[in-house]
Amino acid sequence: MPPIELVKTPPKQLDALIVGARDTGDGLAVVGLPDALTKTFGKGFGGPQAYAAAMGVTGKLGETTALSGDGVRVVVVGLGDAEPDPYDLRRAAGAGVRAAAKLAGSDPLDVAVSLDATEPELLRAAAEGALLGAYGFAGIRSEEQPAKIARISLVGPARAAGTEAVREGAVIAEAVARARDWVNLPANLLYPETFAAQAKELAKGTKLGVEVLDDKQLAAGGYGGLTAVGGGSSRGPRLIRVTWAPRGAKAHLALVGKGITFDSGGLDIKPPDAMYTMKCDMAGAAAVLAAVRAIADLGLKIKVTAYAACAENLPSATAYRPSDVLTMYGGKTVENGNTDAEGRLVMADALARATEDSPDALVDVATLTGAAMIALGDSVAAVLSPDEELVDAVMDAADAAGELFWPLPITEEARDKLTSQVADVKSTGDRAGGALTAAAFLEHFVADVPWAHLDIAGPAFVGGKSPDTHIGPGGTGAAVATLVELARGLAR
Ligand code: BES
Ligand code: ZN
Ligand code: ZN
Repeated sequence: MPPIELVKTPPKQLDALIVGARDTGDGLAVVGLPDALTKTFGKGFGGPQAYAAAMGVTGKLGETTALSGDGVRVVVVGLGDAEPDPYDLRRAAGAGVRAAAKLAGSDPLDVAVSLDATEPELLRAAAEGALLGAYGFAGIRSEEQPAKIARISLVGPARAAGTEAVREGAVIAEAVARARDWVNLPANLLYPETFAAQAKELAKGTKLGVEVLDDKQLAAGGYGGLTAVGGGSSRGPRLIRVTWAPRGAKAHLALVGKGITFDSGGLDIKPPDAMYTMKCDMAGAAAVLAAVRAIADLGLKIKVTAYAACAENLPSATAYRPSDVLTMYGGKTVENGNTDAEGRLVMADALARATEDSPDALVDVATLTGAAMIALGDSVAAVLSPDEELVDAVMDAADAAGELFWPLPITEEARDKLTSQVADVKSTGDRAGGALTAAAFLEHFVADVPWAHLDIAGPAFVGGKSPDTHIGPGGTGAAVATLVELARGLAR
């Protein structure tokens, strides 16, 4: 990631300047222009507003327009129509930097982001968005790709609170980028064993503790979900546990992430189009691991235990079957409805294990159901929980983090669909309300610990293009920032 610095005014030496445009309802307002440019920018048009409007700028959130200023390239980025919140600034700053990066030739650019943000929470969101906009997956190539952005100057009141906010934004952006890197790694390179090695690497030089159970230990320990789902692959399952236990912590938060390094569907195999993006099916695990590292980097005074339930879901002679009955960690039996509903099985084991740590709250993150995408689309994550207080805490955390979440209910109807003729519970219902039945299934494994389930199937991965956000194609790092905010809230 490029370095970022909070500055009062943009530096003289600059390759691109990113300013904002708001649709005030009463015409366009260009904000963040430094004094030196206010007089010259759009002079022939009658001023900055008129110039931007003439060039097609509308102020729509994330819209970018590259214009020429007085010897500097100016990217005008839309801030939307209302008072910008963290979501708007994160997105606009990132879209602006992404648009600026497209202007780069062979040399990386020095850019300034000037969006008229003054409050620390807005500066933090802008810093985070700007850094995420500069992200690019290096890929696995024979020749290294040059960076597009050399450094970022964020314009704002240079006070201590602002500087601290920018530092925090950089920590979170780094965590989000780490999750994105993991999601973007293909499944022939990132599989349970190598993912566990990455978790150990993550903890190096920190006070994080890491424990890994391998396939033999999982089988011996009675982890029937991980063992069944991972059994179809030559690359065995792993359960990764990362702990952050600072002195003086009062609360204990447990995080559980779905770590299916590739989801082919298993014997209930997916059609090609649905399978192609399924290297993303470990995004929940990536989110909880990246989040616990950020929580440690920020020194938050809360105990956090992160679990990553990792397996590869493949069809083979050793694969589990639809109608198999599995005995999960803790002893409950499950009739498997569909081998493509593998996530809830590995999550059940990890949730049951996490409750043994007696956390005050338990939050799981998973690319769990296509049904969540049907319900909420590609950019909104679902939160499901019988605990209204925890739903509120997640929604507040998401607001502060600048991420989109929306509650879905866990209904009696959903619970009733999981009745099995042969086992304690069945893993699947029917197609209707699939995100709800998945949550109702997980509920069987959380004992009486306050618990919330985050389904990030929609926002975890961008298959096509996403020009006007801070996120490029591929993994997005969804939920990382929200989890860090949640921990911050519970630490208070
Ligand atoms: N990993 C998928 C869910 C998914 C779909 C994530 C699209 C991201 C994008 C999950 O394991 C799955 O296949 N779920 C099934 C469950 C069904 C068989 C009950 C689904 O949603 O169709
Ligand atoms: Zn699946
Ligand atoms: Zn899956």
